[in-house]
Amino acid sequence: MINPTSYPVRLVVSALLFTVAAIGSTEEQPPENTEYFHACSSGNLSTVTSLLEADPALVRTTTRDGEHCLHLSAFSGNAEIVKLLLEKGADPDIRSTYEKGLRMHPLSWCTYYGRHEIISLLLKYGADVNADFDLGGEFEENEDRVVTALDVIEKILMDMSVDDERKPEFVETRNVLVRGGALRWASLKDEL
Ligand SMILES: *[C@@H]1O[C@H](CO)[C@@H](O)[C@H](O)[C@H]1NC(C)=O
Repeated sequence: MINPTSYPVRLVVSALLFTVAAIGSTEEQPPENTEYFHACSSGNLSTVTSLLEADPALVRTTTRDGEHCLHLSAFSGNAEIVKLLLEKGADPDIRSTYEKGLRMHPLSWCTYYGRHEIISLLLKYGADVNADFDLGGEFEENEDRVVTALDVIEKILMDMSVDDERKPEFVETRNVLVRGGALRWASLKDEL
């Protein structure tokens, strides 16, 4: 149901690709409402609205791979859908339950996509700006693979060329995170 070729930020989403590559490849698991989740990933507000009206319990459901509509909204960047879900009581910190999902929450997905408008909403509805998660890829045994959203956005900005047209979105994403109290994992770790 997810089309990887439509990803806007391919060079920086290796962790995310790792996560979503497995969607659709699972075995014996409960059915998911594919119409609903497709509407979430494609940003179809009217469909999400009517499906939620017909079945309010949908707001608590995830895909077979444990991704919530809040995660999938990072693809479309549709903040209205996110607002609707949060108003209806969706957990802004919900984590992927997929084994290889890197413990990612909606804020981390949105950071990879530079979705600052959605991040503002998540924070307004109580998301933890410093909820840590894991980086994908290969790691040395003693290497720290735990990160925060601020770690990720700093790396994206560092790797992005100066004339990249999406840069302002990512700069604004960092601004929103910093205003929300974002810290690097290295400094957060010392406080724990
Ligand atoms: C939203 O989904 C409905 C039902 O599938 C479809 O008829 C409509 O064209 C979609 N709207 C957009 C903007 O894609």
